[in-house]
Amino acid sequence: MADAATVSALVREATARLAASGAGSPRLDAELLLAHVLHVDRTGVIANPDAPVGTGAQAQYEAGVARREAGEPVAYIRGFREFHGLALATDARALIPRPETELLVDAALAEVSARLTAAPRSAGAPALRVADVGTGSGAIALALLAALRARRMADRVLVVATDASAAALELARENAVGHGLADHVRFVEADLLPPVVDPPYALVCANLPYVATAQIDGLARELSFEPRVALEGGPDGLDVVRRLLDRLPDVLAADGVALLEIGADQGEAVIEAVAARLPGWRCSVEADLAGLPRLARVARSAVAGPAEGAVA
Ligand SMILES: C[S@@+](CC[C@H](N)C(=O)[O-])C[C@H]1O[C@@H](n2cnc3c(N)ncnc32)[C@H](O)[C@@H]1O
Repeated sequence: MADAATVSALVREATARLAASGAGSPRLDAELLLAHVLHVDRTGVIANPDAPVGTGAQAQYEAGVARREAGEPVAYIRGFREFHGLALATDARALIPRPETELLVDAALAEVSARLTAAPRSAGAPALRVADVGTGSGAIALALLAALRARRMADRVLVVATDASAAALELARENAVGHGLADHVRFVEADLLPPVVDPPYALVCANLPYVATAQIDGLARELSFEPRVALEGGPDGLDVVRRLLDRLPDVLAADGVALLEIGADQGEAVIEAVAARLPGWRCSVEADLAGLPRLARVARSAVAGPAEGAVA
């Protein structure tokens, strides 16, 4: 009987195959896929190069590597992605949550915490209402709620998480149940938000599609595995975002704030859209750790953060 292949041999061979297929991070992908099959983390693979891998695990690994060679994202093959400290289930029903969206979660957490601290809610008082528009896998809603739970604040918040995709909402519900957060979130299938919102939201969070239609086909092959409705935002990418801006006067509380993720080249366009559609409102754009403008903050009156109407 032939000797079982070792961890290092399998990773070496898969890395070469993935590099040839055009994968951007072939060694990392090869290690993550093997770690998944062996039920260890990536360190377990790196630290045990000489460990033998059984034939069953090897066959499973081959299948995963073949899917990756065909361009499928690692998160869909593994079935989960880490986001803001949560392992979220991921599959073709919804966009894979991206690290840059954690900036929006941090901003939302700061907003909600500040409001609950400034005006503590007594027992029986209505919950602070937050909307997550275009929730996808539930990433923003659930990461926010998990962080609030760690601060013992989740009981005072209700998140309304919407999506136009029933399939995405199904995945989001599964994630909410899996993380024990379903009691704090209401999932609604809607174009942006329900037609009537009463009472209004203290906070509206949205990571809506913002890729320009003409750019979609030129994107990395692995993006073609994600739902197009999660990516495509019309001629300049901002069609859906502009429609949400138009809803804000009706859905945002007088002192409410909207936090919108945007493309790194869309800061000026979003500021102009707010000026044109919401006279008297303020918009500031905040940069991520890489210095790229990724978060628009929109409110009726002065907002904290960088200079109004300026890209920071
Ligand atoms: C870029 S994905 C973001 C998903 C998730 N919020 C995240 O950050 O990972 C955009 C989401 O918006 C949803 N969407 C697109 N158009 C929408 C609309 N008009 N109303 C509600 N949701 C919409 C898509 O189905 C998709 O789930």
